[in-house]
Amino acid sequence: MTKKKLRSQEWFGGKDKMGFVHRSWMRNQGYPDDMFRGRPVIGICNTWSELTPCNGHLREFAEFVKKGVLEAGGFPLEFPVMSLGETIMRPTTMLFRNLASMDVEESIRANPLDGVVLLTGCDKTTPSCIMGACSVDIPTILVPGGPMLNGKFRGGEIGSGSFNWTIKEGQKTATFSDEDLLEAEIGAARSAGHCNTMGTASTMATMAEALGLTLPGVSSIPAVDSRKKVMTQLAGRRIVEMVNEDLTLSKILTRKAFENAIKVNAAVGGSTNLIIHLQAIAGRIGVPLHLSDFDELASHIPLLLNLMPSGKYLMEDYFYAGGISVVLKEMAKVLHQDVLTVNGKTFADNYAKAPCYNRDVIATYDRPFQENAGIAVLTGNLCENGAVIKPSAASKRLMQHTGRAVVFESMEDYHARIDDPDLDIDENCVIVLKGVGPKGYPGMPEVGNVDLPEKLILKGVKDMVRISDGRMSGTAYGTVVLHVSPESTIGGTLALVQNGDLIELDVPARRLQLLVADAELAQRRQAWQPPEPLAERGYVKIYIDNVEQADKGADLGVLVGKSGSQVDRDLH
Ligand code: FES
Repeated sequence: MTKKKLRSQEWFGGKDKMGFVHRSWMRNQGYPDDMFRGRPVIGICNTWSELTPCNGHLREFAEFVKKGVLEAGGFPLEFPVMSLGETIMRPTTMLFRNLASMDVEESIRANPLDGVVLLTGCDKTTPSCIMGACSVDIPTILVPGGPMLNGKFRGGEIGSGSFNWTIKEGQKTATFSDEDLLEAEIGAARSAGHCNTMGTASTMATMAEALGLTLPGVSSIPAVDSRKKVMTQLAGRRIVEMVNEDLTLSKILTRKAFENAIKVNAAVGGSTNLIIHLQAIAGRIGVPLHLSDFDELASHIPLLLNLMPSGKYLMEDYFYAGGISVVLKEMAKVLHQDVLTVNGKTFADNYAKAPCYNRDVIATYDRPFQENAGIAVLTGNLCENGAVIKPSAASKRLMQHTGRAVVFESMEDYHARIDDPDLDIDENCVIVLKGVGPKGYPGMPEVGNVDLPEKLILKGVKDMVRISDGRMSGTAYGTVVLHVSPESTIGGTLALVQNGDLIELDVPARRLQLLVADAELAQRRQAWQPPEPLAERGYVKIYIDNVEQADKGADLGVLVGKSGSQVDRDLH
């Protein structure tokens, strides 16, 4: 017996013509009578796709969810949603995050579902699914697909994504041959799962657990570990109970849950992409969250993980060391302990006992790998609405730096000129990249950590200050200022920067300043012309016309908020 009137019975419970229609066509898949008689119907929202290699194992995972749902007395129904393959899609998956979230939202609302299990993995698949589910707000649990096994190369270990940033340098300095690259290509991705660094996918899985949306401990389990399948099956059982308890997303996603997620991201050295996704999720569920919260709540949080890109180990090592549960236990004194999670218990209940098996991978809170590891939010005349930098991935010597701007008006301009031997640039310059914001690219790609010029690489230069309105891969590192808002394409001050201008970056003071007189800037602003529109039709036009700026989460304005699960009209 269920404790609540089931939403699905509005479809399957009718004795009239429409009840017949809803049930009868489902029967062609071979379901017996009792599936339609008051069992909670659980949607398995699957981002499986052969074009999303990080999620290629999720079809198999859906079968484990189904087992769990059936064991608990539910009726599982798997459905596909748009999947976003980070390494394949052009021009960038971020252009499609909001589109995928619409697919998730409308698929859940339009169908007879009482609860939903989100199967996610690759970077954008997790936030897009959570965003869509929030706008419906029925009981929801997330199963992160898990990281790949450690990458192997030349007898050592390589991290997905992080290795990519060494390729140009290795080729220019002739330390990588073509054969080496082929060997690394195969060794880097040698099992199912998403990137094995604390890149954006691992960050998103961690975020989901820190928000209370997963079963405890699941976010750090490798994709191919049998314990992942056990947890997947248990998620199937648990979602049925959640429906009976009416444990909806909005009961879990409180302001306290978001505060926990922000702090945990600092402690694990998570991606700057968390900011933009967490703000979009908060916007959907209706929790106020401001860019400044990320600095105020977490810039003092220490780094507890020695994982790439901020450290040396990988996600597999992290799991063997005790995983996310150890981190959450270590952070007990700074996290809200009374927040509810999907298993119906609080943080305090879930993470009180978590032994650590390797302190070289997970530090104690009092003896961390680095102090003050949280993301810094910058303000100044170059970013009136803010910009961000990840100090744990940056060079200490560049945290306070004034340099001459070398400006690239677009990615194409950058590629055309960056390796020109005559380019007037040295290691003290500041690389400024325009036109890579939400509206400008469009889609705000992960290009902020552009490669350094070849002639400086050959001189042994490893890092320079780079500033853009784009994002950066969670696997990347460097002194990279990102998410400059407003973006250059809509006339933010970034659009006015010229070659030779001085730019001051002062991370301790949280300042990013273009050292050009106000009168000169006013003149440049008057002369500035907006670029031609990049699309005249289709989704890309809808996106450009509606996307919000980075400091607000880059959601489409019309998607912010929720409409609930009620659908008043039948299909008649
Ligand atoms: Fe899919 Fe990194 S490319 S998680």
